[in-house]
Amino acid sequence: MRIFSGIQPTGELHLGNYFGAIRQWVELQHENFCIYCIVDYHALTNESAKPEELRHNRKELALDLMACGIDPEKSILFVQSAVPEHAELCWILGCVTSFGDLARMTQFKEKAKGQQFVNGGLFYYPVLQAADILLYLADHVPVGEDQLQHLELARRIARRFNWRFGELFPEPEPILGKVPRLMSLADPARKMSKSYGPDHYIGLMEPEQEIWRKIRTAVTDVGLTPGQAMSPGVANLFTLLELVAPAEVVEEFRVAHAAGRLLYKDLKETLFRYLMEILRPVRERRRELEGKEVVEEVLAAGAEKARKIARQVLKEVRALVGLD
Ligand code: AMP
Ligand code: TRP
Repeated sequence: MRIFSGIQPTGELHLGNYFGAIRQWVELQHENFCIYCIVDYHALTNESAKPEELRHNRKELALDLMACGIDPEKSILFVQSAVPEHAELCWILGCVTSFGDLARMTQFKEKAKGQQFVNGGLFYYPVLQAADILLYLADHVPVGEDQLQHLELARRIARRFNWRFGELFPEPEPILGKVPRLMSLADPARKMSKSYGPDHYIGLMEPEQEIWRKIRTAVTDVGLTPGQAMSPGVANLFTLLELVAPAEVVEEFRVAHAAGRLLYKDLKETLFRYLMEILRPVRERRRELEGKEVVEEVLAAGAEKARKIARQVLKEVRALVGLD
């Protein structure tokens, strides 16, 4: 498979990113051709992004991804704006994209809601995302559930381009992780996300006591009785536990819950303990990488490899549409 995925450099990685997407990125790189992109053009749609922060966040994110196990020897890791072909293909694909389709995107509607100034980039965001994927003729895209609508649109765009100008692009399929949508611990009705504030996500590199505080104060329910249905908060804690703990441990807690004798404090302590076992090596690798100053080299080499493919595909696109 030819894999492409992207992530915005908007600050630290959280458990939703990790279990929803990045863990699949890491697994896929062993047997596939993988291209992973830090999408800084996309991040510009965020009105509050400061230039210095953007520059800083790109590097930090590259370090985080490498600490999670993205291996630049196996995969191409690069920054989107180092390959300006993304922007050119975006324009061309915009001309085979339906305005009505763009207006239906739920992420756009959510982000535009209540804003005084809605920039055009926010509206065009999914076209750039389609360009990211199609520029490398990728056929599979590992993402969380919130990106499925954007991927469906990317398929429509590929189809319409192929129909109008001639067969070139594959229709990219999503690859969902075991937990396509991890919920916030503070409000299990919403997804884990940085947009709702620091209590609504757990950062991979956060201080240990902060992670414990967020787990300790996670919403559960009051007064468990035997056979009681699981509340969304407790279900979310179980989802996390399943991701980090051995099956027997999860089963033991499930039995205790069904019998109405589960102490949420025990569940939370166990979850914290196993979660830190998963996070500790990632955090250690991150500290090692920081001292090495490898990141610039990795990104430069990645951009060069990406650009080689991008140039070739764009050349074919330009010829097909009549620009060359
Ligand atoms: P973002 O931080 O929004 O750029 O997302 C990066 C990747 O993480 C995308 O593939 C998202 O679908 C995925 N992701 C973000 N939040 C969650 C979540 N709460 N659960 C599962 N996947 C998520
Ligand atoms: N829109 C994606 C997100 O918010 C990031 C993204 C940009 C992406 N381009 C992509 C994901 C291409 C997959 C493929 O998470």
